[in-house]
Amino acid sequence: MSAPPQSHERYEQVFSEVEAPFAFVDLEAMWANADSMLERAAGKPVRVASKSIRCRALLEAVLGRDERFRGLMTYTLPETLWLAEQEFEDLLLAYPTADVGALEELALRSAANPEGAPIVMVDCVEHLEMIQSVLGTGAAPIRVCIDVDASWWWLGGRVKVGPKRSPIHTVEDAVALAREIEGRPQIELDALMAYEGQIAGVGDRPPGQARRAAAIRFMQRRSAAELAERRAAIVAALSEFVELEIVNGGGTGSLELTAAEEAVTEVTAGSGFYAPALFDHYSRFSLAPAAGFALPIVRKPSPRTATALGGGYLASGAGDTARLPAPWLPSGLELDPEEGAGEVQTPLHGPAAAQLDIGDRVYLRHAKAGELCERFDTLYLVEGDAIVDEVPTYRGEGRTFL
Ligand SMILES: Cc1ncc(COP(=O)(O)O)c(C=O)c1O
Repeated sequence: MSAPPQSHERYEQVFSEVEAPFAFVDLEAMWANADSMLERAAGKPVRVASKSIRCRALLEAVLGRDERFRGLMTYTLPETLWLAEQEFEDLLLAYPTADVGALEELALRSAANPEGAPIVMVDCVEHLEMIQSVLGTGAAPIRVCIDVDASWWWLGGRVKVGPKRSPIHTVEDAVALAREIEGRPQIELDALMAYEGQIAGVGDRPPGQARRAAAIRFMQRRSAAELAERRAAIVAALSEFVELEIVNGGGTGSLELTAAEEAVTEVTAGSGFYAPALFDHYSRFSLAPAAGFALPIVRKPSPRTATALGGGYLASGAGDTARLPAPWLPSGLELDPEEGAGEVQTPLHGPAAAQLDIGDRVYLRHAKAGELCERFDTLYLVEGDAIVDEVPTYRGEGRTFL
């Protein structure tokens, strides 16, 4: 299915009865993105990153869409337990937890369903100790995954590029932690994960920055080659004494590269469903904008400027201008360099601003994916020229996990 043309006129017609501000997902665009990600994953199952969707109905829809979308990568233990309660299965919590109460609940769930309980992330002995502290003698084992640092070390380790997460980097580090786990009968090592954020989460075609683009491509090429070798070596070494059910890697931005590694059993993707603005700048793929939000124009400080109500939905990460929402429709709108996107008001310039009157609406896109859902209780789902559903976000269900 190819996405229909996305125009201001079309959305204005679709949403003629809806009061702005509101957020929406364009299903044709989302399913086109889903198909293209499956193609890039080349037959490997795709675990769906819940943090990048944050809407239970859409998580269900994605998992029901194609059996190659398999399991969820979750982001907090309370979220994971809540999803498990709602009958979601095959849950891999991607970030370590220090929530003892939630671990106690996980222990009960693991006792009730030893094979199907969620898997939690560890990268050090302290994580193992914390898990063990909630387990009584004779309790069923808790399933864990080792998070391997996928960052790229250059110039003898003087330059390190990638997310600063796990201290487990080398084959020896991974074997030592796996041996620690092996010595603890109440903890079961089932999985390995290595997330190459410096490839998956960094667009290699930043607009107007040719030199930076070349540096990013150099880094990503070298990093992908290094990681493929190291990941295979770690998996081979661990396979000598543990049976790994899952070797997970990648993200929306690296699907074809990560899936091509033989040692990887599955890849992860989340952001690519909504295709937020930060995912506009990759050379290896292009996605259709599938999530947006509408704001009403409420004042005209000058004939060439239109000011919208709200809009200051900044994305997490390094505090640069790429984290601002991107004006989308009508095309030809720009944020004000002094005010950016405001807490209560967002002035808009550019050729299209002069045409906007009070009461008109403008459409913007978030820089990241799931964070949009922390701003709205519901998402309108659009197909063709109709709103086909309105579904609650996590926030709309009263669930704010982070
Ligand atoms: C562990 C892990 N895997 C995969 C991803 C990729 O997610 P997405 O496809 O939403 O970029 C992330 C994103 O930060 C992550 O932290």
